[in-house]
Amino acid sequence: MGAYTEEETLDKLSKLYIPSEIDQMLPLIREINRLKKEKNAVLLGHNYMTPDVFYGISDIVGDSLYLSKMAGETDADIILFNGVHFMAETAKILSPDKKVLIADLKAGCSLAESITRDDVKALKAQYPGVPVVTYVNCSAEVKAETDVCCTSANAQFIVDSLDSDTVIFLPDEYLAQNVQKNTKKKIISHPGRCMVHEMYTPMDIEITRQRLGGDVTVISHPEYSREVVDRSDFSGSTSQMIDFVRSAPSKNILLITECSMGDNLRMEFPEKHFVSTCQTCPHMKKITLEKVRDALLEEKFEIHLDPEIIRLAKNSVTRMLELSYNKK
Ligand code: 13P
Ligand code: SF4
Repeated sequence: MGAYTEEETLDKLSKLYIPSEIDQMLPLIREINRLKKEKNAVLLGHNYMTPDVFYGISDIVGDSLYLSKMAGETDADIILFNGVHFMAETAKILSPDKKVLIADLKAGCSLAESITRDDVKALKAQYPGVPVVTYVNCSAEVKAETDVCCTSANAQFIVDSLDSDTVIFLPDEYLAQNVQKNTKKKIISHPGRCMVHEMYTPMDIEITRQRLGGDVTVISHPEYSREVVDRSDFSGSTSQMIDFVRSAPSKNILLITECSMGDNLRMEFPEKHFVSTCQTCPHMKKITLEKVRDALLEEKFEIHLDPEIIRLAKNSVTRMLELSYNKK
C-alpha cells in the first residue's frame, strides 16, 4: 500500500467520489501497489496530485523540498515521481544511479518553461559575481548554472543566507517580490509566472472574507502576487500551508492554491470548511492512475540527464538541502 492503507484510502475517497468511480479506481490502485512491491519502486507524490493518486498509490507525499530530500535518501531501485518533470529531474540529480520514471513526460511547468540556461548565462554576464538562486521549478540545465536552489518553503532563508547585498532570483517574479519585501538585499528577478497562481487577485480574498462574515483564515502559496500574499493570514509551501491548517483558528479556510490540494485537505480535515479554487495545473493533472500503472509495468518514461549537468546541478540542489536541513 502507499502512504495510506487500503482502508484509509477507501475511507478518504468515499468522501469525494461516488461508489462506481471508486470501483473503477480500486483495481488500478491494487495493481500499482502490487507492481511497486514486485519492482522495489517508491512512488513520490506531490501535494497537487488528485486524491486517487495522492491517497491511493503515493508512498511519500509532500512539497517539493521534502520530496527532493526523500528522493536522495531512498534505497528503492525505481523512483516514480507523481508530480511534474522538473521534480523527476531533481530526483535523478539526487539519485543518479536509480531509474527515475514519470508517467507523462509532458507534465511540465510554466515557470520551468520561462527560462533557459542561456538566459541565466546572460544574467550572470550582466551582473558578474552576483550569486544566482533558482527556484527548483526549473530545468536541470538551469540548475547547473545556479549557485543554490530554493523552494517556496525556504526561499527567504536561502536568499538571506547568502553573503551578498544583491541576489539574482529566478524564474518566478512573484516569489521574488514576496522575498524582496522581507529582505534588505536587492533582488534581480525574471518575468516567469505560474499559470495557475497568476489567476487570482486580492479582490477574490476581499469578496470571500465578506461572504464568510470575517470568520475565515486565508492561506496562499507564495507563487501569488505580493498583493494576494499580503492579504493572506499565512503564505508558505504546499506542506507549510497544510501545517497551518492544523492550527488555524477558524473553521472556514480560504485555500488559494491548486484545486486538488483543496480536495485532499477536505478529506484530511473533515471538521474544517474549505473554500478553495477549481483552477487545476494542467501539468500535474497529466498524472493519472492508468498512466502510472503503464509507467510501472513498462518502466517508462525514464529521465535521462547528461552526467556533467547532473554534477553541476547537484551542487546547487545539495547546497539547498544542506542549508535547509542544517547538515554538513
Ligand atoms: P511546493 O514546493 O510548495 O510544493 O510547490 C511546488 C509547486 O509547483 C507549486 O506550484
Ligand atoms: Fe508549475 Fe504552477 Fe503547475 Fe506548480 S502549479 S507545477 S508552478 S505550472
